[in-house]
Amino acid sequence: KISREFIDGLPKSELHVHLEGTLEPELKLKLAQKNNINIGQETIEDVEATYHYDDLASFLAVYYPGMDVLQTTDDFYELAMSYLNKAKSQGVRHVEMFFDPQAHVVRGVPLNCVMEGFYQACVDARAMNIDAHLIMCFLRDMSARSAIDLLNAAKPYRSKILGIGLDSDEHHNPPLKFMLPFSMAVEQGYHITMHADVDQVDSIDHIKQALEIINVERLDHGTNIVEDKDMVDWVNHLHLGLTSCPLSNKLITDNDLKGDEILDLLDEGVKISINSDDPAYFGGYIADNYEALVKEYKVTPEQVVQLAKNSFETAWLSEKQKEMYL
Ligand code: ADE
Ligand code: ZN
Repeated sequence: KISREFIDGLPKSELHVHLEGTLEPELKLKLAQKNNINIGQETIEDVEATYHYDDLASFLAVYYPGMDVLQTTDDFYELAMSYLNKAKSQGVRHVEMFFDPQAHVVRGVPLNCVMEGFYQACVDARAMNIDAHLIMCFLRDMSARSAIDLLNAAKPYRSKILGIGLDSDEHHNPPLKFMLPFSMAVEQGYHITMHADVDQVDSIDHIKQALEIINVERLDHGTNIVEDKDMVDWVNHLHLGLTSCPLSNKLITDNDLKGDEILDLLDEGVKISINSDDPAYFGGYIADNYEALVKEYKVTPEQVVQLAKNSFETAWLSEKQKEMYL
């Protein structure tokens, strides 16, 4: 029997968490009041009642409007610090956090507020013994031109951003749409990763584009490769990391943590890890995700340890830094 204490105590790296997805109902209400923003709900229960969805699109329809409450540098700082405190309590030692600047800039919030707030939280995380970094995402339902504009606008913050990701609505928004901004990002020395959401239309085709043309270093979700043995071999050959998020799978796919797929891939040697995605919206942080998997599937302690090891092996750390954790 694998205990919660064992899971919490296991040093973990989190590679797939959206900072805006860590906005708990309580903080959302508090910031709405502070910034005088009418979000349509007045109690925590009312906000919680809006946290219901049955697919990615219906989730995003709650997620983006919720960001309206984030207005100032302090708001972004407080959001990130409250995530980091949660992560600390669940055994996170290293984290690479996604954020969505376009969703803020289109609302008139300056990129500077987003960057300063989130980056200060990364600096202050060191005192908590967490090594925290930022991955700036392009929204794939916006244009490639908009992604390039963001990349250019982010030049003054180059040293504060570890990598570039791609998220939001995948339907009709294939990786190839972002070939130019991703190749520019690589030229600027960024690490790159991309979402390949679970059970999307054309999932395998999108993953092929991400791996063979864009040359991503990780795949976020990406568990659909389990359908294609050659692709599993290719992912293994590349030592590519897959960042899987069980509670997210359950909440926005078909009530399925996708534990069979995760454990099959793990057995095949794929460097797959467990992560929380949008923990405030999907009912749990990283250890809650491990716990959900362990409760619903037959998982050995060795498998749990391997999942945590994979999270460090596929982190954007130097080999020397990895040795410290592994
Ligand atoms: N943005 C935040 N969470 C996301 C998810 N699970 N998939 C795609 N885009 C996202
Ligand atoms: Zn995600």
